[in-house]
Amino acid sequence: MSFVMSLSLAVSCFIASVLATQAYSGSSTQSISTSPQCCAQLQAKLGSKVSFPGSPIFINEQNGASGYWAIAEQNVIPACRFTPTDTHDVATAVTELANLNCQFAIRGGGHMFWAGSANIAHGVTIDLTAMTDITVSQNHKVTSAGPGCRWKDIYNKLDPMNLAVVGGRADTVGIAGLTVGGGNSWFASRYGFVCDNVVNFEIVLASGKIVDANETHYSDLYKALKGGGNNFGVVTRFDYKTFEQGEFWGGFLVSVLSKFLLRNCI
Ligand SMILES: Cc1cc2nc3c(=O)[nH]c(=O)nc-3n(C[C@H](O)[C@H](O)[C@H](O)COP(=O)(O)OP(=O)(O)OC[C@H]3O[C@@H](n4cnc5c(N)ncnc54)[C@H](O)[C@@H]3O)c2cc1C
Ligand SMILES: *[C@@H]1O[C@H](CO)[C@@H](O)[C@H](O)[C@H]1NC(C)=O
Repeated sequence: MSFVMSLSLAVSCFIASVLATQAYSGSSTQSISTSPQCCAQLQAKLGSKVSFPGSPIFINEQNGASGYWAIAEQNVIPACRFTPTDTHDVATAVTELANLNCQFAIRGGGHMFWAGSANIAHGVTIDLTAMTDITVSQNHKVTSAGPGCRWKDIYNKLDPMNLAVVGGRADTVGIAGLTVGGGNSWFASRYGFVCDNVVNFEIVLASGKIVDANETHYSDLYKALKGGGNNFGVVTRFDYKTFEQGEFWGGFLVSVLSKFLLRNCI
């Protein structure tokens, strides 16, 4: 399973990494502000949504109930964490951080495996934990979800309605990182990767501008976000294609290595 997963991620990330390299080549040579400056400026604009080491919000998001999945990531300590509650908060923060040339990380559900993917030592971590709104369109064709959602939040809402989206297999995983990374699902063989089932991304660009990226609007960005990770902005809402789904059987088939079917492949 992990082989299939990493292969799918590798394929979908390829185009994005090419684009990301181009984006980086234009990066500024302006000096980087120190983290205390960045955190102080952010706090001046956004008040108590900025938290510091030792405070309850900070601890909760590092290694408390909303903490990171990997211990290695819990051990990365930023200078401050910023917990936006809506898209405008994110836009304000990104504008400020870009103006000051501050280093920052973006955290969705905090399930990435390695240190520094969604946290940054001595920097600023934008933690999307509090952005968890979920709405289903009236015709039941689209489910919109905030980037702080985990898959279980969406499934718990859609299951009673006999609806589903193409989402992650372990339901504690964050929707944001999984979707911008490509995303493998129990439904993948029927409907494609998770990212293939996004009809629209609301995203805050490096300029602080809030845009929709979809098939007809910012269509190049829409394509790049399907596997592009955190290279293009902070996604503040995902709109997922939604379909009717009753109950179904699922599970794992486990085999000892010596009986593994690999011998049929070589
Ligand atoms: C137990 C477990 C089960 C898993 N099951 C599956 C599975 O079934 N299918 C699958 O495909 N993968 C699976 N994964 C892998 C998972 O998809 C990745 O770890 C994914 O990055 C998790 O997303 P997150 O939001 O929780 O992670 P985070 O650690 O918060 O973020 C991961 C990356 O995405 C970036 N990012 C997060 N939010 C945003 C945003 N809003 N805008 C831009 N960039 C953002 C971060 O900066 C970081 O680089 C699993 C992982 C675990 C630990
Ligand atoms: C694409 O973005 C435009 C501009 O915001 C919006 O009007 C349109 O409804 C979006 N399309 C989808 C499918 O969300």
